[in-house]
Amino acid sequence: MTSAKQTFGVAGETGSGHFGDTLGRQVLIFVEIVKNQILDAVDTIPLRSQDQVFTIGDYGAADGSVTIPLIRDIIGRVRERQGELPVQVVYEDQASNDFNSLFKRVHGLIPVPRTYLKDFKDVFVTATGAGFFEAVVPPASADLILSFNAAHYLSKPVTQFQDSLHRYPNATAEESRLVAAQAAEDWETFLFHRAKELRSGGILVMAMVADDSHNHVTGLRHCVQQQEDDMLNTWRRMRDEGKITQEEFVNTNFDRCTKYLDECTAPFKGSKSAVTKHGLQLVSAELVKVPCVARLAWRKKLDEDGVDDRETWVKTIGDHLRCWAAWNFIRALSDQRNSDEKEALVDELFTRIEKKAADTHPDDYLSDPLIAVIVARKVSSCDGHTHTT
Ligand SMILES: C[S@@+](CC[C@H](N)C(=O)[O-])C[C@H]1O[C@@H](n2cnc3c(N)ncnc32)[C@H](O)[C@@H]1O
Repeated sequence: MTSAKQTFGVAGETGSGHFGDTLGRQVLIFVEIVKNQILDAVDTIPLRSQDQVFTIGDYGAADGSVTIPLIRDIIGRVRERQGELPVQVVYEDQASNDFNSLFKRVHGLIPVPRTYLKDFKDVFVTATGAGFFEAVVPPASADLILSFNAAHYLSKPVTQFQDSLHRYPNATAEESRLVAAQAAEDWETFLFHRAKELRSGGILVMAMVADDSHNHVTGLRHCVQQQEDDMLNTWRRMRDEGKITQEEFVNTNFDRCTKYLDECTAPFKGSKSAVTKHGLQLVSAELVKVPCVARLAWRKKLDEDGVDDRETWVKTIGDHLRCWAAWNFIRALSDQRNSDEKEALVDELFTRIEKKAADTHPDDYLSDPLIAVIVARKVSSCDGHTHTT
């Protein structure tokens, strides 16, 4: 059964590759951070004979831009070990995703990043809008499943936050309880399906937007904390000024739960876990603070050219934020408003946030993404027996 509930909407025109040109640039750094870990893991995946196929999944792929360079490296590593072993790449996302942009990027119509299809033969690309809370590929058919910046989205909304956009920062105890319970159920469902889909020896690598409830990571409680705080506080102010109504304010909810690390590891614990029963075992789990690309670029220009380019810094931060967040505000506004009015209000929200950023020093702006990197390995088949392949 496919869920029709859309939990994420991207800004920009369909087919324009907007995601990869904005937020995707930030996520590329997540990928860079875990790349060597993934390539080393790929070397441990048992390969099959030449008449079979090595299957890579990218779940919650958006326009595919973030993993194209990584998939090139993965195919390279697989082919180093086994000549011309055919490779299949399965892109998965919600049915509402901009697959047009994905196909343009993967087939080179949008030439950046350079598609791996130009460099390797016998690589077969498919895409599905199944949604990752469903089975996406047949049992025991995937060798490597990747998912970046996606599995914090919920399968459905479970509560209406009265004074917060999601759990962080101001959900009530009851709202937090409800959303944590749904997130736990969804995460277990996600892992359960991946456990069935992976072949024995196959690997799952996830990098998910996270929340560090105990501030273990220096100075950061939440992924892009400053932008999160600014969105909530500015939207509250616009309500208090009468620009939006209280009803529109409480209707503005993100269908996501940025999990704590112990929530990410919970389904792997305990003998009753459906995930471990299906042979998926945790290899590693860690919280990583990723440097904000906008600040890195600003710093580079300052150090190398002596140019303090705050304008580009603010624009980049604003573009990234609008890319993933704007849709949530637009959809919350009353249908009594026409679309121009909705766009104008949401533009005002982000313009105010950008103006506030312009008055802040980039080093003092808490815009670093915080991610949970989870690696798991399939050790046995669905019947509980270890495969030798
Ligand atoms: C922030 S984007 C990240 C995209 C890309 N993986 C990256 O790392 O940049 C989140 C993606 O998760 C997808 N997503 C959210 N819920 C999903 C679901 N239930 N099934 C599949 N994809 C989902 C969204 O459609 C969106 O493309």
